[in-house]
Amino acid sequence: MAEAVGVVGGGIMGSGIAEVAARNGCDVVIREVDATACDASRHRIERSLDKAVRVGKLTEAERDDAAGRLRYVTGFEEFADRDLVIEAVVEDEALKAEIFRTVGKVTAARGTLLASNTSSIPIMRLAAVTEDPERVIGMHFFNPVPVLPLVELIPSLLTSAETMERARAFAADRLGKHTVVGKDRAGFVVNALLIPYLLAAIRMVETGFATVEDVDVAMVSGCAHPMGPLALADLIGLDTTAAVANSMYAEFKEPLYAPPPLLLRMVEGGRLGRKSGQGFYPY
Ligand code: 3HC
Repeated sequence: MAEAVGVVGGGIMGSGIAEVAARNGCDVVIREVDATACDASRHRIERSLDKAVRVGKLTEAERDDAAGRLRYVTGFEEFADRDLVIEAVVEDEALKAEIFRTVGKVTAARGTLLASNTSSIPIMRLAAVTEDPERVIGMHFFNPVPVLPLVELIPSLLTSAETMERARAFAADRLGKHTVVGKDRAGFVVNALLIPYLLAAIRMVETGFATVEDVDVAMVSGCAHPMGPLALADLIGLDTTAAVANSMYAEFKEPLYAPPPLLLRMVEGGRLGRKSGQGFYPY
């Protein structure tokens, strides 16, 4: 049976999650704040579906079927009949908590599984604002979602075994993703390793130890990474990179998680990476 999925937020991650769910037969509702944001999400997904056809990953008929399974809405009430809702808005804890409070109420009768794609905010903080925290879990996808096969599953102390199994089955059996399980600590598994690495690369540039280009060439040519750390930070978004670093620093108080001043200044100046047209590289 096709699952009915809701996605909150049609940005890079929300659109990617919605696209992958639709490509795997789910009926998907994406909620954005207004019609302009809905259009932006639709265009983002259409571009990615077109690319999937170009690179031979989808037929034209499969692309059209997937596009036909996606609906764009501005209200939360459309989530009342969903089996699963995945929140994928910016890394703002107050905003995410407000969404969990609202979606928790709308879906209470159905017992919908509620997941957050947060990169680093402890799941307990989102679960705790709902009336039934046992149906809340972290499902962390990776950018670009149609390409990268991992989903981290993060149960909080209150997540039920049934919720855990439903989330695993959705990610692994329905979407065909690899899953790993992480403890409910800021950063989970991947960002606990990735963020200190990205911040170290930024500090190298900040101190004049090596150029942006040399740092990236070194890791691509010397360690066979698909892209260097500064190009990757631009892809993730420098605002997101800084937000994740801040959450991890707040959790552990370890200097290696503290965002370097250069990163903060770039974010304050609107240099957010690919999405703003300028980060460590121009786009
Ligand atoms: N749908 C399906 N498949 C697609 C696709 C689409 N829309 N677009 C591309 N692909 C496939 C291509 O067919 C190709 O597959 P192949 O290996 O079987 O031939 C593969 O994806 C690579 O595509 P491209 O050739 O177009 O692109 P590149 O080779 O330039 O790779 C990249 C681009 C995928 C971004 C690669 O550089 C990469 O993997 N970089 C690392 C990204 C990464 O580490 N992301 C994680 C960020 S951390 C995160 O998201 C967590 C957050 O919390 C911070």
